[in-house]
Amino acid sequence: MTKRVAILISGGGSNMVALAESMRGDHPARPVLVLSNDPDAGGLAKARKLNIPTLAIDHKPFGKDRVGFEAALQTALETAKPDIICLAGFMRILTADFTGKWAGKMLNIHPSLLPKYKGLHTHARALEAGDAEHGCSVHEVTAALDDGPVLGQARIAVRPDDTAETLAARLLPLEHQLYPAVLRRFAQGDNRPVNLPG
Ligand code: GRF
Repeated sequence: MTKRVAILISGGGSNMVALAESMRGDHPARPVLVLSNDPDAGGLAKARKLNIPTLAIDHKPFGKDRVGFEAALQTALETAKPDIICLAGFMRILTADFTGKWAGKMLNIHPSLLPKYKGLHTHARALEAGDAEHGCSVHEVTAALDDGPVLGQARIAVRPDDTAETLAARLLPLEHQLYPAVLRRFAQGDNRPVNLPG
């Protein structure tokens, strides 16, 4: 049975594009919705070009009413009926109530070698720590931020002249390889970790 995948974005959606373009042929999943909390997210136009249904639920009118925003998310998701949700550059923190509703079905990509550097500014923090290597992780989303079981990682060597920007730029193409590889296994119920380079 083909798994239905909803992808949540907030910005350019390059990871969404990589995921969507991977779900073809004998892939066990297909994208059914791209949803953004920002109506101006560049990824929405990219999703439309890929003929994926899109939706924007602007979080700003909800102000501090995180529960109200998530109720709107939940209503949209209950219509799309995803088997799997992929957070891909989605920049809103989700409550334990929401993550609990999707426990075991929601993935996220985070630009660090978890458990290192949960939260923001991961590239700068890796540089500040003098790490020899950096990378990205795909994990199951749980109530704690960037804390769920890691399903895959991709690693790069940090270069002496690296800045946060050059690290991010070198890492992004690896994210685009890692996330689709993890999703393909996850959609088949295969939780063996993916490690890149292979
Ligand atoms: C990526 O670095 C990803 O790791 C982080 O958000 C950034 C932008 O992702 N979660 P995208 O281009 O919007 O997919």
